[in-house]
Amino acid sequence: MATHQLLLLPGDGIGVEAMHEVANIIETLNKVSGKVVFETEHDLVGGAAIDAHGVPLTESALKKALNADAVIFGAVGGSKWDDVAYEIRPEAGLLRLRKDLGLFANLRPAICYPALADASSLKRELVEGLDIMIVRELTGGVYFGEPKEIVTLENGEKRAIDTQLYTTHEIERIAKVAFDLAGKRQNKVHSAEKRNVMKSGVLWNEVVTATHKSYAPSVGLEHILADNCAMQLVRNPKQFDVIVTDNLFGDVLSDAAAMLTGSLGMLPSASLGAPDEKTGRRLSLYEPVHGSAPDIAGQDLANPIATIASFAMALRYTFNMGQEADMIDQAIANVLADGLRTADIMQDGMTQVGTKAMGAAIIKHLETLAA
Ligand code: IPM
Ligand code: MG
Repeated sequence: MATHQLLLLPGDGIGVEAMHEVANIIETLNKVSGKVVFETEHDLVGGAAIDAHGVPLTESALKKALNADAVIFGAVGGSKWDDVAYEIRPEAGLLRLRKDLGLFANLRPAICYPALADASSLKRELVEGLDIMIVRELTGGVYFGEPKEIVTLENGEKRAIDTQLYTTHEIERIAKVAFDLAGKRQNKVHSAEKRNVMKSGVLWNEVVTATHKSYAPSVGLEHILADNCAMQLVRNPKQFDVIVTDNLFGDVLSDAAAMLTGSLGMLPSASLGAPDEKTGRRLSLYEPVHGSAPDIAGQDLANPIATIASFAMALRYTFNMGQEADMIDQAIANVLADGLRTADIMQDGMTQVGTKAMGAAIIKHLETLAA
């Protein structure tokens, strides 16, 4: 029997509750799968790590993440840590993980579950059957570019600088990820940048074009300005298959795409590193797109689906367990079809349940599907 090591980093706020449900799902899978055993370890990240250790990620937690077969991440942040130094704010723990694990490819699927089409802020016909994959570059761009600072000028005024920075190699490798994915989907990539304003956009456009030509000429490619992409996402989202874009545009566009599906509480994501040249091993971290939602934390109100679906993505992308991943996704769809809803996706005529009851209902369906 194969044994896999998972590092669970619940983090702050609703990350903790959602991860609790994931731990239950893992336990269930260990019972029903018959072919693998997942061993789990926990550690702290974000505000929780600041409270315990004074930093948002300890060296020992980072080491565990580097050694794990996959990391499942909850959420970080909250107003409690508004006053900590910028360098050790909760989000810095997540950014350090992304950077030090080399997780350059962030896959953010936006799928509209049929049962939730009416929870979208767009009309049903615009979102029903929606299936977009946003491929966000995750270790470059303005998130990490230097200089990044606030300086005081001679006249006493302050000046803030962030640096948007991309190299050929960074653009090429994320473009390849997008083309590979599109090949297994609807074979269409939109590459979003702002070449009309930004030099990094000009290079992005050039490199994506060249990579397309040499690597995946049979995949459809369209270039789109990032602002137009945002507009098209709310105008006619089903025109998209795969969208590849930089770190900052990807952050923004994926929130917009997420909301099309009815709730930010539904969307998982996968952050992948490059496969090791010798072993093929690839570091990976799976996290929901939503944040820590401190306003509803600890009240059994959070929607655990995005974190559970993130674990399903780990099965699919790291452990090659597509069948089990499908089973979890199906269990989620079934629970929604049963009419169970957490507060964030509640609609008339449905039954509102808490985090725990939602997790338990998914497990029940999972057990049935596995039987
Ligand atoms: C996300 C989040 C993060 C980001 C924050 C928490 C640093 O918004 O994963 O989309 O900006 O990347
Ligand atoms: Mg974001």
